Amino acid sequence: MPQLAYVDGRIVPLAQARIPVEDRGLQFADALYEVAAVLNGRLLDWPQHLIRLRRGLAALFIELPISDAALTLQAKRLIAANGHADAIIYLQVSRGVARRDHGFPANSRASLIMTVRRFDFAQRIAQQRTGIAVITVNDMRWRRVDLKTTGLLANVMAKQDARAAGAFEAWLVGPDDIVREGSSTNAWIVKDDVLITHPLSESILAGIARAALLRLAAGAGMTIAERPFTLAEALAADEALLTSTTAPLLPVVTIDGCPIGSGRPGPIAARLAALVWGDIATQTGWQAPA
Ligand SMILES: Cc1ncc(COP(=O)(O)O)c(C=O)c1O
Repeated sequence: MPQLAYVDGRIVPLAQARIPVEDRGLQFADALYEVAAVLNGRLLDWPQHLIRLRRGLAALFIELPISDAALTLQAKRLIAANGHADAIIYLQVSRGVARRDHGFPANSRASLIMTVRRFDFAQRIAQQRTGIAVITVNDMRWRRVDLKTTGLLANVMAKQDARAAGAFEAWLVGPDDIVREGSSTNAWIVKDDVLITHPLSESILAGIARAALLRLAAGAGMTIAERPFTLAEALAADEALLTSTTAPLLPVVTIDGCPIGSGRPGPIAARLAALVWGDIATQTGWQAPA
């Protein structure tokens, strides 16, 4: 089955999908995106993704002339047309096409593209058993990374540094030595049974998986602290972990080559992972293959 993409109202073969050269997403990264998980053919936490997208659009004064209901319908149509039970859907809204000029164009119309890619969530269950490595890099991004813009060059460079070092992720550290988040994930530590993550601010993305874990951990009676933590604290933590749409919960067992806690996935990460996958099963009916 050929891969299909959605481009401004039409579903077309991915290989033939095109956007104009003067799309402002391409010229200026004047665009927002969302990535949502599809498990067992069902969208996970979809309303939360829509809320974040709408909030970003409002902050950037981009008007997307499609209702949430119509957008959801089109997303589901594309998912069904691609035919993958387990997938990720990528949405991108740009300010539209206009003669290149930094200021907002007078009459551009926002453009919407969507793609769907098969995704193997079961690989995350395997990685959960071994844990993953992260490295740290300086956070070189602009100051509004709470907006999910397509201007991801600093994240791209950080992820590439991680790959080159044989690590799964790069944690982005501010000049104050605070660990903000990963290049495409949110960062967490556990110390003395307290689950700690950076508070929401303009210097992290409000991850949907982050919100899910906070909700589930609170529901399970865990003590939570949404507060900044330093790299030194992370290195001295009992456990560390990361979350994202494509990595719902992974234990971090080394940071810059230094073992965290026992150097193996810890009991709290295991407990939280069980909650996360339980929530995914409740929402979508997805079960890890035996
Ligand atoms: C910088 C950054 N932080 C955190 C996340 C995790 O967000 P979510 O849980 O919504 O996938 C992402 C996801 O792409 C990201 O790019």
